[in-house]
Amino acid sequence: MSVTPAWQALARHREVVRAKTPEDIFLADPARLDAWDIRVGGLRYSYAFQNADAETLDLLVDLAREKQVEAWRAKMFAGEKINATEKRAVLHTALRRPGDALIAVDGMDIVPQIRATQDRIAAFVDGVRSGRINGATGKSFKHVVNIGIGGSDLGPRLAARALLGNSSKLEAHFVANADAFELLRVLRNLDAEETLFVVVSKTFTTQETLLNMRTARQWLAEKLGEDAVARHFAAVSVNQAEVSKFGIPAAHMFPMWDWVGGRFSLWSAVGLSVALVIGNEGFSALLAGAAEMDAHFQTAPLAQNMPVMLALLGIWNRNFLGQPALAILPYSERLRDLPRYLQQLEMESNGKSVTREGAPAFCETAPALFGECGTVGQHSFHQWLHQGTSPIPADFIGVVADDLNRPDHHRALLTNMVAQIGALAFGQKAAVAHDVYPGGRSSNLLLLDRLDPYCLGLLLALYEHKVFVQGIIWNINSFDQPGVELGKRLARSLDSAAIEGPAAGMMGRLFANLTQNDK
Ligand code: F6P
Repeated sequence: MSVTPAWQALARHREVVRAKTPEDIFLADPARLDAWDIRVGGLRYSYAFQNADAETLDLLVDLAREKQVEAWRAKMFAGEKINATEKRAVLHTALRRPGDALIAVDGMDIVPQIRATQDRIAAFVDGVRSGRINGATGKSFKHVVNIGIGGSDLGPRLAARALLGNSSKLEAHFVANADAFELLRVLRNLDAEETLFVVVSKTFTTQETLLNMRTARQWLAEKLGEDAVARHFAAVSVNQAEVSKFGIPAAHMFPMWDWVGGRFSLWSAVGLSVALVIGNEGFSALLAGAAEMDAHFQTAPLAQNMPVMLALLGIWNRNFLGQPALAILPYSERLRDLPRYLQQLEMESNGKSVTREGAPAFCETAPALFGECGTVGQHSFHQWLHQGTSPIPADFIGVVADDLNRPDHHRALLTNMVAQIGALAFGQKAAVAHDVYPGGRSSNLLLLDRLDPYCLGLLLALYEHKVFVQGIIWNINSFDQPGVELGKRLARSLDSAAIEGPAAGMMGRLFANLTQNDK
């Protein structure tokens, strides 16, 4: 049932494409440079440099139809509980949808609570940025320390860096790791009187976040006294009971909801640190960009639908050309955190081996993602991309506008990006074996008109929907993450010396060895 006729047709078609040279693929049809291109608002997607031909695209679209991507999409936007293992709706799109039309979860309209929370966030952001909401000694906040991990860190970290103008009144810092080094390094340079901690944890049970929060609290209390905690901490969580136990007042507590997955939560109060840094107008523009991508995803025909085509070509590379990884290459220092963000988004969502029904997956699922800023990666792993034995595709992300007004730097970024795409696609023939580049290596090009909140919203929502479409085609639940629990449980039981099970002896000895060596 999972291997449909279109899947079989693609498997046969693979041999046709494999027999083609890079010249056959790319040069025989130069018109594809204009035709294999989709634009949504300020974001352009060119897939002309994919190792695929026109028939590949038709067959991939057939596959999306056979797998009922459109019907599943409608279910997601309508709030059906498509996260079946956790019995939850998947409604991050509701957080950015304009208007007040009803969206029901368990028979209750969720739009009023979204709007009420957005109003509270806006008031808090204005208060902090204007100095009306300030620290225990009356000083305005100049630093925001976001404490969270995974989805409670990677999205805000990426967006705050990407959108940080020179004019920001507040500087954001991010602390995720259980390793105290990260927190201590941030605190070393901060004045407690000017520091606001934003603790973000959907569950408020995550070990790393609780550890960092307690250490931060101790640091603050030592400098300003216990009473300062209420003024210098804010929190975002579903678990409001635990937040108030920590001493954070209701006015500094912002809710999130079960129907928002952690890695899809930037659009909720999880984005508070971003809103504090870029202001309410910027945060609204981020949501508006994502909403434009949502509207496009819901309405554009499959063959002109940006997330659908990005997902389908990923499936082509992964399942039919057998490519096990995907390189994410932002040619922008401000998008440096994009590879890490997408690692969680794609690999935690689709790194699964069983279908929605609990049977073994019928095909390979998520590839391994890794990446680095262009041009930095060119001097590191691009050798492997060009001449390694396992060809893999790459997503190049570029920005058209030179808003730093440094034309020489900007030109270097763009020329290098285009050169890399060309070298991967066309390769090079040479008499000396070492100088041969095989070519035929696929790239996507995603071009933002400018690096502003609106275009970033478009880009991140694009990848969210890509993940959704791939999950539907692979017939897996993209919205749970059971595979992260075992390690957490074992760490807890080692910590309390209560480890059990067949491997307990070995693990206990290993842990004992490590702690002995520490003495
Ligand atoms: O360990 C996985 C995970 O549950 C992620 O899915 C999540 O983004 C992260 O931990 C943080 O969880 P929380 O926001 O509940 O602290």
